[in-house]
Amino acid sequence: MKVIGIDLGGTNYAVGLVDETGNILSRIEGKTKVDEGPQAVAKRLSESVKSVMSNTGVSARAIGIGSPGSIDHEKGVVRFSPNFPGWYNFPLAEEIRTHTGLDVFIENDANAYALGEHTFGVARGFDHVICLTLGTGIGGGVITHGFLLRGSVGIGAELGHMNVLPNGPKCGCGSNGCLESLASATAIRKYVEDGYSRHIDSSLFKEKNASQITPKDVFEHAKNGDYFSLSVFNRVVSALSVAIGSLINIFNPQVVVIGGGMANAGDFLLEPVEEMVKDYVLPTMLGTYQIKLSQLGKNAGILGAASIVFERASKR
Ligand code: BGC
Ligand code: NA
Ligand code: ZN
Repeated sequence: MKVIGIDLGGTNYAVGLVDETGNILSRIEGKTKVDEGPQAVAKRLSESVKSVMSNTGVSARAIGIGSPGSIDHEKGVVRFSPNFPGWYNFPLAEEIRTHTGLDVFIENDANAYALGEHTFGVARGFDHVICLTLGTGIGGGVITHGFLLRGSVGIGAELGHMNVLPNGPKCGCGSNGCLESLASATAIRKYVEDGYSRHIDSSLFKEKNASQITPKDVFEHAKNGDYFSLSVFNRVVSALSVAIGSLINIFNPQVVVIGGGMANAGDFLLEPVEEMVKDYVLPTMLGTYQIKLSQLGKNAGILGAASIVFERASKR
């Protein structure tokens, strides 16, 4: 069975034709251009779906979409997404079905991502999995007893909005001190802008404008011992460790997977988190879990989205 996976992001999207073993037979990327409105985005995605199929001459069985925000996975509706201003209750599945003639299934992006890690990634073979995607936002996915945890109306597992610092920085969701407000790429950008405006002496500001500095730059400079970059890095590590420690105490997972762009930091990020998490877990939890970095790279989103379809098919 070949299916389409769509990784829908606030800035970019990627569409891939995927087989059951996780091979990507054809792939297209593009700009989402959310400001053009949901109909235009649905049309653009549908065109890419048609292109990946005509590139290979293979027609897909169905389409899976991973989208940020609160998704009604039964109706295929994007209820609300902080990354898509103006999208309220948009019937994305229906719209894409009309353009392509294929069945369409949608899940929250990080939920889809967790299914992808479970099917094709480092969480394969585990029934108790926690996933965090570190990017512009922080997404969460929980697999417990082999099933994706969705909650009563399907919008649960928003692990990025776990409060880890009451009265902390403002989060995109409107609250304060969520994990996302402390450890996302957006949070890092804010720390950097704040440091710049306070004229802090840092090697970071000698190369680029504050607005062009990426989390990758901050991690690089931290590695080289830049004091300010290290302080930013340490804040990220602490917030992540507090959150992961609590998640381990609540869910008793076999594996915690860290994915998203920031996972490219590798052991530099993983090792201090592994160490610090030990301060927050129950003594009985020690030795029951592993923390791993995603290995799926830039295809994680496509594979996650495709896994939605494989998961539904396996439950029929
Ligand atoms: C959203 C989540 C999403 C995550 C990653 C968060 O801001 O609330 O729904 O999974 O970003 O895209
Ligand atoms: Na989620
Ligand atoms: Zn929040």
